[in-house]
Formats: sequence, structure tokens, C-alpha cells
Amino acid sequence: MSDSYARITGWGKYVPEKVITNDDLAKMVDTNDEWITSRTGIKERHVRAPGENSSDLAVKASIPALAMAGLKPTDLDLIIVANSSPDYYMPPVASIVQDKLGATCGAFSLVAGCSGWVYGLAVANQFIEAGTMKRILVVGAEVISYALDYTDRSTCVLFGDAAAAVVLEATAQRTGVMSYELGSDGSGALNLYVPGAGTVHPMDQDVLDQRLGYLRMNGPEVFKFATRTVASSLKRVIDQAGLLPEDIDLFIPHQANLRIIETAAKLMRQPLEKFFVNIQKYGNTSAASVPLAMVEAIEEGRLKPGDKVAMIAFGSGLTWASVVLQFGVKPGAEVEEVKQNGRRMVSARRAFNAVQDVYQNFAMGVQMRRAASRAAAKKRAKERMTASSGR
Ligand code: ACO
Repeated sequence: MSDSYARITGWGKYVPEKVITNDDLAKMVDTNDEWITSRTGIKERHVRAPGENSSDLAVKASIPALAMAGLKPTDLDLIIVANSSPDYYMPPVASIVQDKLGATCGAFSLVAGCSGWVYGLAVANQFIEAGTMKRILVVGAEVISYALDYTDRSTCVLFGDAAAAVVLEATAQRTGVMSYELGSDGSGALNLYVPGAGTVHPMDQDVLDQRLGYLRMNGPEVFKFATRTVASSLKRVIDQAGLLPEDIDLFIPHQANLRIIETAAKLMRQPLEKFFVNIQKYGNTSAASVPLAMVEAIEEGRLKPGDKVAMIAFGSGLTWASVVLQFGVKPGAEVEEVKQNGRRMVSARRAFNAVQDVYQNFAMGVQMRRAASRAAAKKRAKERMTASSGR
């Protein structure tokens, strides 16, 4: 058993100043505030200023995180930057961040789409628990707007730019990560991807003409994947921590779509108020989404020392990552005690939950089959209309 735990000692965020509202987007593509708000929960998003890159956002989020932890950049043992929108194809953005901060440690970029920062948290935790490192900076930073096709209404309304960072430090106090799950289902990889400018289709005139350098998404398929994955992964990771959903003080889900968060709350049979939501202000900021929500939850007093928090992200890959952690230490309520008390109490409750899950999964299956047949009927009607108007 490790005597070294990873405690979050500093945090920071940075969002670019420029705001694009739903009404602004309605002037660019065939969309409107009502559609975007009701289908996604998003009201506005921030986008970078010209010349502002992922490394700049990352540095601006990291400086306050280091200051709060009382550390100099040279005190760090490692920097992990979760990012899918690098300054350059090469080198890794993490090295640019390391240099701009004036740090002297190793640094690597972690590419796991929107799940990257939660992956990074789990990785950093391993180094600290193993006792090989003591201070690690984990950043999520994205300028995802660079990959958006502002003629494609199905994607450009969803995303925004941001960065957030935490400092993890080794402590002997029992706190920090209690359990985690890292997941990937590459069979769905092409449901969310940038088709051109990689090795499959290197940069050429076709990439420009066919706009292949922009993000493409099969929204409904990603939506189905997300609704399937969020609650089931959260349940597993909470279980693994020896807890029940009701023991979790705050859920911090990836901010991709409010309807996905509402479905997760329903499937977890937890009140929506326990799920932190800031999607209305930022949209989906990819790898910055979960840490940005975490930083705001702390700032708003929703996440307090000693609280147990469950976080989950999902995204391109298709990947997902979830983690249960105790935030800071509340005297007299340490992780190990919680785990042991938890284990004694939970068996009966777990059995009851399992029965409810079976019923809920059945009901959701019925609902999804009904929705699919309604969509197919709508498509057939549309095709009939097109055919008859062509005659
Ligand atoms: N404004 C108006 N109408 C629109 C817009 C828009 N911005 N976008 C699409 N529509 C239309 C479609 O054309 C379609 O019209 P039709 O019925 O006439 O064909 C209709 O709205 C419904 O489109 P759907 O795509 O079925 O809409 P849906 O309810 O599924 O919502 C959305 C789309 C919001 C993208 C949803 O599918 C979603 O949130 N998916 C998950 C996305 C996600 O979570 N991504 C996370 C990973 S991101 C990462 O890792 C980088």
C-alpha cells in the first residue's frame, strides 16, 4: 500500500476574451438560439484571439495554478498537457508549454480527445503513488475553434476554446484519486475525426477543396455512445472506490451536451443539482472541459475540502475516462475510512441498485427503439416528399 497520495494543491483556468453567442452564429450558418439551446444547453462559447495558441492558453491557466500551490515552474517533476489542437503538428505542445513556463522537467502531450485531461490525472496519480515524482502539472488546453468548419452548423455551434490546470503534489495524508477507469472503443473512431492532413490523406489541394482539414462528427452516434457510457462508467468507478452514487458530493461530467448530462443523472438516479454544469458559458472545450468545470466548481464553493467527486469525460477515439477522488482533506474523514465504512454498508444497496439498473436499461432500450423508428418514419416521409416534388 502506497504512503504517497496525489493531492490537488493548485488550480487555474483561462478562457479567451472573445465570445461568440448563438445569435452571432445564426448570422454565419442556418441555425438559431432556440435550436442550439434546446438541443445542447449552449448559449455562448469563447474563441481565441488571432495568434493565441493552445500553449498560450495552457500557460495562462498554469501560472495561477502554480502560484496557488506556492511552486516555481522549476519545482515541477513533470508536465502533462492534454490537447488535440496543438500549436504545430510537431513538436508536442507540452514542450512549448514547458519552455514558456520556464520549467526544466519532462513534458508530454496526451492525445485522447475530450477525455485527455482525465487520462492525464490518472497517469500523474500513478507516478505520485509509485513515489517516483512529487509535483506534477496536469493541463487541459484547447483551441478547438481552429478545426471547426464555420459553414457546418452541425459542429461549429458546439465547441469553444479554453484551458485549465491543476498541480498534484505528493502527500502522506490519505486523499486524492480513489479509483479510475480508462476506456477506448476505436471501432467508433470515424464518428468524430478530422479526415484530412494526416497520413491517410496528406495535405494536398483535395484537403483544401473538400474541407477535409476540419472536424467531422456523426452527432447522433456520438450521442448514443455517450449516453451508454457516462452512467455505466461512473457506476463502475464509484463501485470500485467502495462507494455508492449517493456518497458522491459532486459529479463533474464532460460538458458536451446538457441532454447527455440529464440522461446520466437519470440513469444514476441522482438529482441533476449534483451534476456541475457550465456548458451554457463555454460549450464543449474538449480536454479543457472537465478541469474548467472543476475549477469553477471550487470557485463557486460547490467542491469543498473532503468532498468526494466523480468526474467523467468522453470524446474522439472514441475514448472515455472516469475518476473518483477525494478533494483535499477534511479532518476526520479520510479516504481509507470512507472506503472501509463504505464496504460494510453497500452490499444490500448495491443489490437493490442492480435490480433498478436492469429495469432502467430495459426501459431505455424501448425508448431508443421508439426514437429510432420515429426517425426512420420521418426520413421516409421526407424522401416521399422529395420524390413527389420531383415528379
Ligand atoms: N441548427 C439548426 N439545425 C441543426 C443544427 C443547428 N446548429 N445542427 C443540426 N441541425 C438539424 C439537422 O440538420 C437535422 O435536420 P433534419 O431532421 O431536417 O435532417 C436536425 O437538426 C436533427 O439533427 P441531429 O444531428 O439528429 O440532432 P441531435 O438532436 O442529435 O443533436 C447534436 C445534434 C447536438 C450534435 C447531438 O447529436 C450531440 O450532442 N452529439 C454528441 C456530441 C458530443 O458529445 N461530442 C463529444 C465529443 S467531442 C470531442 O471529443 C472533440
